[in-house]
Amino acid sequence: MTAEVVGFLVTDVGGAYLDLTAGGGGFLRALAATLDKKARLYAVDKDPAAVEWVERTLAGFLQFKKIIRISFSEIDAAVEQFEDKVFDGILLDLGLSSRQVDDAARGFSFQSDGPLDMRFDPDSSTTAADLINTLNEKELGNILKTFGEERQAHRLAGAIVRERQKTMILTTRQLAEIVLKVIKPPHQKKSLARAFQALRIAVNRELDELAKVLPAATGYLKPGGRLVVLSYHSLEDRIVKNYFQQAARGCICPPAFPQCVCGQKPVLKILTRKPVYPGESEIEENARARSARLRAAEKI
Ligand SMILES: C[S@@+](CC[C@H](N)C(=O)[O-])C[C@H]1O[C@@H](n2cnc3c(N)ncnc32)[C@H](O)[C@@H]1O
Repeated sequence: MTAEVVGFLVTDVGGAYLDLTAGGGGFLRALAATLDKKARLYAVDKDPAAVEWVERTLAGFLQFKKIIRISFSEIDAAVEQFEDKVFDGILLDLGLSSRQVDDAARGFSFQSDGPLDMRFDPDSSTTAADLINTLNEKELGNILKTFGEERQAHRLAGAIVRERQKTMILTTRQLAEIVLKVIKPPHQKKSLARAFQALRIAVNRELDELAKVLPAATGYLKPGGRLVVLSYHSLEDRIVKNYFQQAARGCICPPAFPQCVCGQKPVLKILTRKPVYPGESEIEENARARSARLRAAEKI
């Protein structure tokens, strides 16, 4: 959705832009190709491999100024280190990059065998194996149900707990084999994806991070600046949609109040009443794009 992201994000080709999920640097490169020489591009990622890659591959672009290794919820600390302090556009492309999925050693994929890790930041304390081997059955079931929307979450959690009494579950293959034993065809692939998604969200506290960054990022937009968010599942999209609606409404008084007492004013104008989806040809080229949805809003 490169054209859509660039189209919604860029209002001034000589402006300042911040990509809070630099990943493989794809959108940074697309922005550099669109912006003029005066523009400034900044980036954030919590994965040191992404930071190192972006530093190396974006070095030749005049507009690229700096990337900081930090969680995007800590945007204040990142902006402190940038020359620009307000931005014409801020981008969030949520979830994980294809570079992370393709690296079996990161443990994100059920299609290759690797350690059950799944941390975006390898210095953070909790891995997927820690959760799988230490949470009780109810807690595990809740993660699989809430973050994976898996109907058989509690059966699956029971099977995980029985299996780990025999041997610790330390690899993606071990976890995948448990899922394949519990879930019968034709739903196995979907359940594998759901279980891995659920654990990844829990390990990286992705929904908390998202809920924190949206209002914080809005605070760093110039009037007329744009916030563009690409999400990949309904849990993320719901948080983005609800935040945009609340920020566009301003008032947070209960509907029963005859008049506003909170005094909060709208801070965003929603640019996408409905989410924007990728076209057929993009889905054919890139399977991950299938679940992508874009929402954009403008600072008032
Ligand atoms: C979908 S990828 C971004 C791909 C990128 N837009 C590109 O064009 O290559 C998401 C990236 O966000 C990073 N990320 C996820 N959650 C983060 C967080 N809370 N703070 C900082 N980076 C995060 C991941 O490490 C990953 O590199």
